[in-house]
Amino acid sequence: NLPWAEPYKVKMVEEIFRSTREQREQWIEEEGYNLFNLASDRVFIDLLTDSGTGAMSDKQWAEMMMGDESYAGSQSYLKLREVVRHTLGFPYFLPTHQGRAAENVLFSILVKEDNIVPGNTHFDTTKGHIEFRKAHAVDCTIEEAFDINDLHPFKGNIDLAKLEDIYKSHPKEQIPFCMITVTCNSSGGQPVSMENIKAVKALSDKYDIPVFIDAARFAENAYFIKEREEAYRDYSIKEIVKEMFSYSDGFTMSAKKDGLVNIGGLLGLRDEQLYRKCGNMGIIYEGFITYGGLAGRDLAALAQGLMESTELPYLKARIDQVEYLGKKLLEYGIPVQQPIGGHAVFVDALNFLPNVPRAEYPAQTLAIELYKEAGVRGVEVGTLLADRDPETRQDRFPKLELLRLAIPRRTYSYKHLDYVAAALKNIFDRREEIRSGLEIVWESDILRHFTILLKKK
Ligand code: F0G
Repeated sequence: NLPWAEPYKVKMVEEIFRSTREQREQWIEEEGYNLFNLASDRVFIDLLTDSGTGAMSDKQWAEMMMGDESYAGSQSYLKLREVVRHTLGFPYFLPTHQGRAAENVLFSILVKEDNIVPGNTHFDTTKGHIEFRKAHAVDCTIEEAFDINDLHPFKGNIDLAKLEDIYKSHPKEQIPFCMITVTCNSSGGQPVSMENIKAVKALSDKYDIPVFIDAARFAENAYFIKEREEAYRDYSIKEIVKEMFSYSDGFTMSAKKDGLVNIGGLLGLRDEQLYRKCGNMGIIYEGFITYGGLAGRDLAALAQGLMESTELPYLKARIDQVEYLGKKLLEYGIPVQQPIGGHAVFVDALNFLPNVPRAEYPAQTLAIELYKEAGVRGVEVGTLLADRDPETRQDRFPKLELLRLAIPRRTYSYKHLDYVAAALKNIFDRREEIRSGLEIVWESDILRHFTILLKKK
């Protein structure tokens, strides 16, 4: 009964910089209270995203050196093809420069005006790509997901009744596919059970509708299946991964998460015809089908990354860090989404800052407070991210207003997480005094949160 410890040690370190509260107050005002605008040396601990921010292994760096930069038929592509075939179980795939590029390639073929794409809460780029084509993303997540204190083990699950309603009320020609996002980022990094994936596939088969997986965090989802779904306790992660994907017709993947690389994406397909059509789109938008906007070395590092992220000891270390931060915040009485998600801790800003009106963006207000307090950068997953309704142009208030603290993979120490927790506790202790939020000065028509400019209300 020895304690558990990480299955790796550190070979290289990167300096990070502390600043003073006065500096941060000035910087963030200059940057329109948008944390995306900050230069990284003005951030001490960066929990903006777990996307492309992780540490690669020595083996991945070795693969980088051996990357084959041939325009066509690169050896690195062939290596990646082996992994996509044998670990993920897909005969066809296209590399893309990141996840949203895979969405773009696939949706260019499949999504038409007025189409309906049901799923569990679609990620913002996925929804953006759907709405950009004048189609609609319909959220069919189970209701439990919207109660942050509900301990349902699979809050990413799709509500089969909601899904069937969609299938019954629209002709199948209007529904190009159903999208299952694993884990479900927008509802808190919450997993989807194998039982649910299987049931969604069975229901969709009944209505002759394809199922695609948004696989950004597929390995983390597999870990939760192993931990929480009795029938899979004795399965290896690789067996679970293969079974999860077996219930889908294809997947889009941002490889910047569970691919353990800094850039890259994949589109996996079973149907040869669809692969050929998508291949043409890939060539237009991304590059030739054997590199898709990536260098050969990126493909090689990704092949190795997918092998590493589907190992249990790695996943245990990964998920444990996230859980550690979440539990620390709970100890301090801070309201967070429970159970703790796979890649991030989501703080409930409506309960944290009860005196900030909804129209003044409480989650963004909390994100700014945390930056000013300690130089920690999180990200708003609330009204700014939810964007305006494409028809009415009014703010869409999502069910939850969250501050996401995403933990990069293999990057920060437990001490860093203690620091983050202490900073949030300081704010929590004076939460009653925070009574006003922010207002918009400028915003773009789509995906406004990236570039928005705000001022203090
Ligand atoms: N799908 C999910 C579930 C995601 O979380 C992301 C990206 C994408 C698709 C798009 O992938 O960035 O490679 O184009 N999520 C990042 C995040 C940006 O911070 O959660 P991409």
